[in-house]
Amino acid sequence: MEIKKVLSVDEIELSDPTFWARPLEEREGAFATLRAENPVPFMKEQDIPDIPLPTGPGYWSLTRHADILEASRNPEIYCSGKGATSIADLPPEFNEFFGGLINMDDPRHGHQRRIVSRGFTPRALAKLEAGVQRRADAIIDRVIERGECDFVADIAAPLPLEIICDMMGIPESQHQMVFERTNIILGLGDPDFAGNPQDLLKIALGAGSELAALMNEMTELRRKNPSDDLTSALLNADMEDGAMTGAELASFFVLLVVAGNETTRNAISHAMKALCDYPDQRQKWLADFDGLAPTAIEEILRWSTPVIHMRRTCTRDTELGGQAMKEGDKVVLFYCSANRDEKVFADPHRFDIARTPNEHVGFGGPGPHFCLGANLARREIRVMLDRILHRLPDLEITSPPSRLQSNFIHGIKRMPCAFTPGKPGTA
Ligand code: HEM
Repeated sequence: MEIKKVLSVDEIELSDPTFWARPLEEREGAFATLRAENPVPFMKEQDIPDIPLPTGPGYWSLTRHADILEASRNPEIYCSGKGATSIADLPPEFNEFFGGLINMDDPRHGHQRRIVSRGFTPRALAKLEAGVQRRADAIIDRVIERGECDFVADIAAPLPLEIICDMMGIPESQHQMVFERTNIILGLGDPDFAGNPQDLLKIALGAGSELAALMNEMTELRRKNPSDDLTSALLNADMEDGAMTGAELASFFVLLVVAGNETTRNAISHAMKALCDYPDQRQKWLADFDGLAPTAIEEILRWSTPVIHMRRTCTRDTELGGQAMKEGDKVVLFYCSANRDEKVFADPHRFDIARTPNEHVGFGGPGPHFCLGANLARREIRVMLDRILHRLPDLEITSPPSRLQSNFIHGIKRMPCAFTPGKPGTA
């Protein structure tokens, strides 16, 4: 990719929603300028029209890989408990549904993480494996005769959602509802999903409550009839670290569907776009899919960086990247920039499926909050791309993707594609 430096360092406004609507080449150019000229800029928070939240004071923006690693590794100085997923301080009722693990610090975080890790052990993932394969094939079967479809809605989106629902034991009839509510929560900045901006918070809260209500129903069901799903395991009080309450479980479910669903979907969509944009890489991968898959998946995660940032808050006066910071200051970790840091990645704007080493921070930096679902996501991306590349080998994107306008999720909303029709069940 040829990046474009159209903004001078003083013109870069990361809080301005229009910054995130700029072409990707310009966005990458702006972060390259920041890394070189002002790597820890202070960005003022902007008033968000019609949203009843006080405008915050602003935040330090980390753009370099080394600084993001340092903040991630030192949670006692850069904490998550005051909010990790939103730069603005959210009203307390939001934490009920959107907080959970990701917005907690130790000791609560460690305790909860040990409990929910039950669902992500190698054994638990091995149990899901057959489902991942079967569902990926079924997704291709549903579109293969049509010869065209929307890559996002029809191919990339269903798998992560279905797998999380399978993990929790959610019946198939509720999958669509979960899908729609998740889109609302994560697409907050984008007018397409959110509707009237005045109702944004209410709509998001409503979507969260509906997901929580679904989980409450599941909790009741599983208390009466335990099964071998994660919901039953998390409710099981005999486990060493104790059980989760119904409310904690509801909140964890909301976190799982928002954390694991759109992120993985976007990684798959960006991967397909990159493989179409760089046909030499596609050829190379097809020639040795299994051999190259480990490095290709990491490169897809670096290239796509589905989560653009996470936030931390300073627990004391400190210094990071040569910048003095005060207790209470907000710090935002721009993973998208760290993943293009020329000090760490040779030729960072090149998509290279054999790249090694590849110390990307797509799943966050090393530390207690490192993505719990990383191995599941890697597996889903690999299986889905395997099926697409082998069963729809001439798939091409037929018009430019429509991008989500968000400073949090690097998303693709729609991406029409076409391929030579085939027969279902020919895997
Ligand atoms: C390509 C897909 C994914 C990406 C890019 C991604 C990225 C991230 C990032 C950046 C964080 C925050 C790290 C931090 O604050 O330091 C995170 C946390 C988390 N992710 Fe993922 N994620 C993905 C898939 C998944 C999946 C499939 C699941 C579960 C089904 C999941 C569950 C979680 C959870 C529970 C946390 C919170 C962990 C904690 O705070 O201890 N993620 N993820």
